[in-house]
Amino acid sequence: MLRSSFTVLFICFSLFTTLVNAQVNAIQNIQGRKIQSLNGKWNYIVDPYENGYYDYRHEPFDQSKSGTGGYFDDRVQKDKTELIEYNFDLSPQMNVPGDWNSQSAQLSLYEGNVWLRRKFDARPEKGKKYYVYFAAVNYEANVYLNGKKIGTHKGGFTPFQFDVTSRLKTGENTLILKVDNTRKPDEIPTVNTDWWNYGGITRDVYLAEFPDHFISDYKLQLVKGNNNLLSFSMKLADATAGQDITLSIPELKLEKKYKTDAEGKINDEFTWNNLALWSPESPKLYGVNIKSDKEDINDKIGFRTIQVKGDSILLNGKNTFLRGVSIHDENPLLAGRLRSEGDMRMMLQWAKDMNCNYVRLAHYPHNEEMIRLADEMGLMVWAEVPVYWTISWTNPSTYANAKQQLTDLIVRDKNRASVVIWSIGNETPLSDARLSFMKNLAETARTLDDSRLVAAALEVHRDGNTMILNDPLGEVIDLVSFNEYAGWYWGGTPAELVKYSFDIKYNKPVVISEFGGDALGGFHGDENTRWSEEYQEALYKNQFSMLSKISALRGVTPWILADFRSPRRQHPVYQNFWNRKGLISETGKKKKAFFVVKDFYDQMQTKYK
Ligand code: GCU
Repeated sequence: MLRSSFTVLFICFSLFTTLVNAQVNAIQNIQGRKIQSLNGKWNYIVDPYENGYYDYRHEPFDQSKSGTGGYFDDRVQKDKTELIEYNFDLSPQMNVPGDWNSQSAQLSLYEGNVWLRRKFDARPEKGKKYYVYFAAVNYEANVYLNGKKIGTHKGGFTPFQFDVTSRLKTGENTLILKVDNTRKPDEIPTVNTDWWNYGGITRDVYLAEFPDHFISDYKLQLVKGNNNLLSFSMKLADATAGQDITLSIPELKLEKKYKTDAEGKINDEFTWNNLALWSPESPKLYGVNIKSDKEDINDKIGFRTIQVKGDSILLNGKNTFLRGVSIHDENPLLAGRLRSEGDMRMMLQWAKDMNCNYVRLAHYPHNEEMIRLADEMGLMVWAEVPVYWTISWTNPSTYANAKQQLTDLIVRDKNRASVVIWSIGNETPLSDARLSFMKNLAETARTLDDSRLVAAALEVHRDGNTMILNDPLGEVIDLVSFNEYAGWYWGGTPAELVKYSFDIKYNKPVVISEFGGDALGGFHGDENTRWSEEYQEALYKNQFSMLSKISALRGVTPWILADFRSPRRQHPVYQNFWNRKGLISETGKKKKAFFVVKDFYDQMQTKYK
């Protein structure tokens, strides 16, 4: 009797710690902490039937009485009589960070489960806390350390970590993940998207060491609409009162001393004049230091304000025009997720080459490194969660998932001056359930961070030659942003575009969040020849003429910077699983339309000087 009740208690406790682990927000500025990279070559086993997770009665091995039997045991045959039907040591390796699709021809279109294993040495010290931190895993991860489950996570683009203090061994440790990238109707995103479903550990993995009472989160930004009022908030991982905290910005000779409150938190606002404000033209970042008696964290933070006023967008109180382009998290030259600073800098430099001052990082949270580069290079950012198309609007767990992903995005990037817009979704079909879902997300965004704009790609419909924008979601977001594909999906040839006009219900700044058309780089014809660079070029010229009719036009975001892979694009000559709307081809060639956009941006830069 005693034994069985103990077992029940243990199962409840381990479920609870897993749940608790899974819900804790990601640690702020992980790269500014004491970290050991777990990137590199990981052995992997492709497991389409989850043979390493379920027994032949489809019961999970990690919930059996022994909690063993799965691939997470990482067993190796020691005796010739033993039967073991897997072996990580003898299995192939792939690079982490890196999606599996672009690292193995066998896995290019694979959707399912892959096990990945990394062995690493550790020297844990008494009194220290240890976390394993994942910058992103697509889509669902079951994580095991030294044969024991430490947690699960869903969501392909946001960071998460698990406390491994009690499980980390001195010497060799074995970290194993079961990653499942299968699309499902009730997930975020759902089953239908227009991008490649890259699976795997697609971003960095770290083992992070912390003192007890460590600083888990902080925010230092200007208060909305005030270029001289800074807001500083910070919290410890546990509610330790009376901890001495010093905030300093040496360049400004700014130093503020605090003691944490009963909840281990600090909340303060203070005036500081003559800050050099961040902008695309002058992307000023300050060295910020936050110190406790046990930690010394450095970060680089820019300060700016972003607001809407009537139909204007004000950056630091000045009218601005968003000269943008959309970007997927994919390196067109490698056809895989962006993996490194080099990848990301290339993409953002292409945007700068086109005279952009803003990028829409579609349709999901991009790599934190991408946002930090945007801070450094001077590009405003539209950040987005993958609430895309036909989500399961009435499913509470779907909403909880969307809310968690939005929370994780805002928690991670709230100190990044480049981020000016939180987007809660893209082209979501009208319904009462959708409106309620999206209004709640908009409220969540504002509650977590009222210093940035909230947007979404709204729905637009046509009446004859008029595009009508009266999506009720427009009431609760700051921009009238919508996608329109006149000249590609509808509306005739590029020359016909000038006949279209707009009827926009809201007196808010208008940002066209997507428009454009396909061109196969290097294919030429006249301006009515579909797929030719000339067609795309004419489409952009006429789009800009058409869009200039919108008096409240305050930004445009052509779709898209570079050709990207999509399972929806099957034409054997023009597409081959590539969406060709890029202004740059998958070989890095700038198409003719690229220069049409650049010319338009040069004009807008002069107009908004
Ligand atoms: C949609 C969608 C994009 C998609 C694009 C296209 O607007 O938002 O994700 O790639 O159209 O059809 O190319």
